This record gives sequence, structure tokens and C-alpha cells, in this order.
Amino acid sequence: MIHTRMCDLLGIRHPIVLAGMGAAAVPKLVAAVSNAGGFGTLGTTALRGEQIAAAARMIREATDRPFGINHLLFRMNDEDYAQTLSVRPSAVAFAWANKEQDLRSYFNRAHEAGIKVMYMAPTVPEAVRAASAGADLIIAQGSEGGGHVGWMATMVIVPMVVSAVAPIPVLAAGGIADGRGVAAALALGADGALIGTRFLATPEAPLHANFKQAIVDSDGHDTVLTEINDLASGHIWPGAVARVQRNAVIERWIGREWALRQNRVEVSKALGEARQVGDVNNAILMFGQDAGLIDSVKPAAEIIQTIVLEAETIIRERLHGAVRG
Ligand SMILES: Cc1cc2nc3c(=O)[nH]c(=O)nc-3n(C[C@H](O)[C@H](O)[C@H](O)COP(=O)(O)O)c2cc1C
Repeated sequence: MIHTRMCDLLGIRHPIVLAGMGAAAVPKLVAAVSNAGGFGTLGTTALRGEQIAAAARMIREATDRPFGINHLLFRMNDEDYAQTLSVRPSAVAFAWANKEQDLRSYFNRAHEAGIKVMYMAPTVPEAVRAASAGADLIIAQGSEGGGHVGWMATMVIVPMVVSAVAPIPVLAAGGIADGRGVAAALALGADGALIGTRFLATPEAPLHANFKQAIVDSDGHDTVLTEINDLASGHIWPGAVARVQRNAVIERWIGREWALRQNRVEVSKALGEARQVGDVNNAILMFGQDAGLIDSVKPAAEIIQTIVLEAETIIRERLHGAVRG
């Protein structure tokens, strides 16, 4: 069994964390990951105030294992954070702070409540900023990943962050969907992996079946980094672009962002409607290049079991066997 410092830190069996993906990391998926020995993280972008506490209660009804709650710092609202602290998750997983935000004050409030702090960083300076503010675990996120990412590739950003924040444990994120990715993350110095896209193609994820099938069908070559989603939603992410599938609606607006800004309300409404009905051409589908590694929709528990077994076998047999003399 693979056991790292982060397993002890979070009280979990396997060094696999479910990314706190916006509206996708719902209680059912969080509980499934935690029950399987990983660390589920609740996404909160679709939740406000008391809804966060209600979601945490649903998780607790489905599992007695540790779980976390994700917050996008640039959109942080004090009432939401108070609700999160009141339900005492094992960790708060932060990402995407504005430059002016005082990370230490957020981290201290969590620590005072006995809650660990995770922070996802797409650059070395951002990782160092979070480490200096007292984060317990840093997630080094590479641009292969789905959703909002930075510009550095996982292969490069992970070892750079590991060196920059040592001895704080680091998780690798971005492009990891199987045991090969987890074994590579450990080789790069990470203590585990944070995984998003792979968990979207599960029965527990709340996505329309067509979106899950689009991930299965994708060969991973069809994604693009864009701000189209954010221009339509009106949310300004500090320093991020989003990795999405390059489908018909993205083709329609790419290079015509000025026109999108002009028609924002109408476009945003149309995107929402397309999402509701599972229209894969006209909705925005956020997923990573690792869609090319995903060939079926399967339960979160099965994904975790397969990943950890594969990683263990690679380390035990292939890597160990490659050393001579
Ligand atoms: C649909 C989707 C929504 C996401 N929403 C969030 C979010 O709300 N908060 C967050 O910290 N990260 C979010 N992420 C990014 C993940 O935390 C993670 O960095 C990424 O999924 C890792 O790459 P992978 O998708 O290749 O596993 C999202 C990712 C996806 C695919």
C-alpha cells in the first residue's frame, strides 16, 4: 500500500484527493471518494451560506471518513466561510486568491477551529505565498488539468513547488487520471495527487450523461485554454484561464471575445440552457487533457482502487526493476 505524509495529515488511507470542483464535487461524490479511502472535497461555487452546512450534513450521513470543503478565495464571502468553519471539515481547500487578500487571516481562522488548510497554486510564487501564510498542504496545479488552471505544466511545476515549500507536503494536480500519473507524481516529490476530470466520468458526478460520454469520447487533443467561459459568466479569475473542450460554442466565440462581451447576458443564458439539456456542442465542458486516458464511466471507488493498485505495481515492479547494480 502506498502511504505518504499526507495520509497521516488528513487521516486517510490512499493519497488521492477529489478536486473540490465547483458544482460537480457534490456530497454523493465526496462521500464516495472518502468512503473508498481517498479524501473527498466539496465544491461550493453553487452553494451559499446555510446550503454549505446542509451539504456537509449530507456528506456526514453518507460517510464517517474525513472530507474537505473548497473555497475560491477571490469569490469568498464571509458568511459562507463561517458556515464552513462551523461544520468542522478536516480541511478547507482554498484556491485562486486575489493579490490583496490576506491569506494568513483565512488560514488562522481554520487552524483556530482545528481545521487543516490546503491551498492550490499554479505558480511557485503563489505556492510560497500560501506556505508563508501557514498552509499545511500545497497543491501544485499544472495546466493540463480541467477547469481553471495556470500556464505551467504539471511535470515542471510540481518539482519546483516541492523544492520551494519543503518540508510542507505537496500534491500534484493536472492531467492525473490513472496509476501511472500517481506514480509519476510521487517520483516528482509529491505526497499524492488531486484529481478532477477522472471523477467527472463517474455515476456519482451530477453531470448530464452526454457530458460524461464527451469525456470518454475525447482523445484529450481537443481541449483549449480560454477565457470565454469567464467572459460569459462575468467572474474575473485572478490569473487563470480555463481548460475546456474546443466544441462548437468555443469555436463560435474564439477570437471574437469583443462580441461576446457585447452579448454577455444572452450568451450566458444560452450556455446555461445548453447545459441543462446536455447539449455538448453549445454548453461549456471543462475537462483536462487527461480525458484521453479515460475510456469509461465507472464508480469513484473503483477508480481509486484501480489507481492505487496500478501505482503500487509500477513502483514495486517497473521502477524498482529498472535499477541495476
Ligand atoms: C469541472 C471542473 C470544475 C472545477 N472547479 C474547481 C473549483 O471550484 N475549485 C477548485 O479549487 N478547483 C476547481 N477545478 C480544478 C481542480 O481543482 C483541479 O486542479 C483539476 O481538475 C486537476 O486536473 P484534472 O482535471 O486533470 O484532474 C475544477 C476542475 C474541473 C474539471
